[in-house]
Amino acid sequence: MPQQTIDAPDSGNASMAAQARAQLSRRSSLPPLDLSTDYRSRNRIIEERIRQHARENSLRILEAGCGNSWPLRLEGIRYALTAVDVDREALEIRKSRIRDVDEIIVGDLRSTDIFPPSSFDVIYNSFVLEHVRGAELVLDNFLRWLAPGGLLILRIPDRDSVYGFVTRITPFWMHKLYKRYVERLDNAGLAGHGPYPTYHDRIVSRRAIHEYCREHHCKVLVEMGHGQYLPKSPLWGPLVRTAVRSISLLSLGRLQWRHNNLTFIIQKSALTS
Ligand SMILES: C[S@@+](CC[C@H](N)C(=O)[O-])C[C@H]1O[C@@H](n2cnc3c(N)ncnc32)[C@H](O)[C@@H]1O
Repeated sequence: MPQQTIDAPDSGNASMAAQARAQLSRRSSLPPLDLSTDYRSRNRIIEERIRQHARENSLRILEAGCGNSWPLRLEGIRYALTAVDVDREALEIRKSRIRDVDEIIVGDLRSTDIFPPSSFDVIYNSFVLEHVRGAELVLDNFLRWLAPGGLLILRIPDRDSVYGFVTRITPFWMHKLYKRYVERLDNAGLAGHGPYPTYHDRIVSRRAIHEYCREHHCKVLVEMGHGQYLPKSPLWGPLVRTAVRSISLLSLGRLQWRHNNLTFIIQKSALTS
């Protein structure tokens, strides 16, 4: 598993910090991305990290932008799960049908005052940031709400992938049709179910998350790319593969085609409150 320790540059005034950020970004290349894990093993890796973090203690976990289900199995550890979402219907499904949360809160993750500082040991945020205008505010809140040394599990599509690019340039109605008729999700578009409109702020990319962590004294403990997104069918597989590779080539390699989504396990510094 690639691991990387990231130290923040000294920050003077805002413009010097921005310059240092730009310089660092130009100089530093990103570490190789692990594309070998499948969906289940990624979840097992996250569960294992959360278990290690718990040791003998009970954990306060926030599921931020929870939607109507979550994939983690945390049997054997004690924890209290708080779920926040702007979508009241999704929370209702979670509360009345799934019944796996201790507390639900209807709220916008950009609002600073939903929780006091250091309220959680773990924050799980999966495929939410791409739906938020002002997504960096949400990350700032996560760092505020996490206790020192706390874990942020972050899942995002990479806007600098071919997949992210195509999502950005296609209209929302097309996403709905894709979910309903290609992915065959019968509930797609119904109340409490995705898809949700996407904005893909600049922060929603692999490079920007690394920069953000560097600036905020956080450590990227684990980073995994999702490389199994291409269709497996003998007809569509080669066609789509050729199309995404061609787009990547035309972008002079700026858009990555080998992965679409990313999973990070990020640790807040133990020294910042
Ligand atoms: C694509 S769904 C992901 C749901 C779930 N986390 C998952 O991985 O399946 C995006 C979720 O983010 C929520 N969301 C979008 N913007 C939000 C915001 N500003 N504050 C809180 N939740 C938000 C949506 O309501 C939706 O439930």
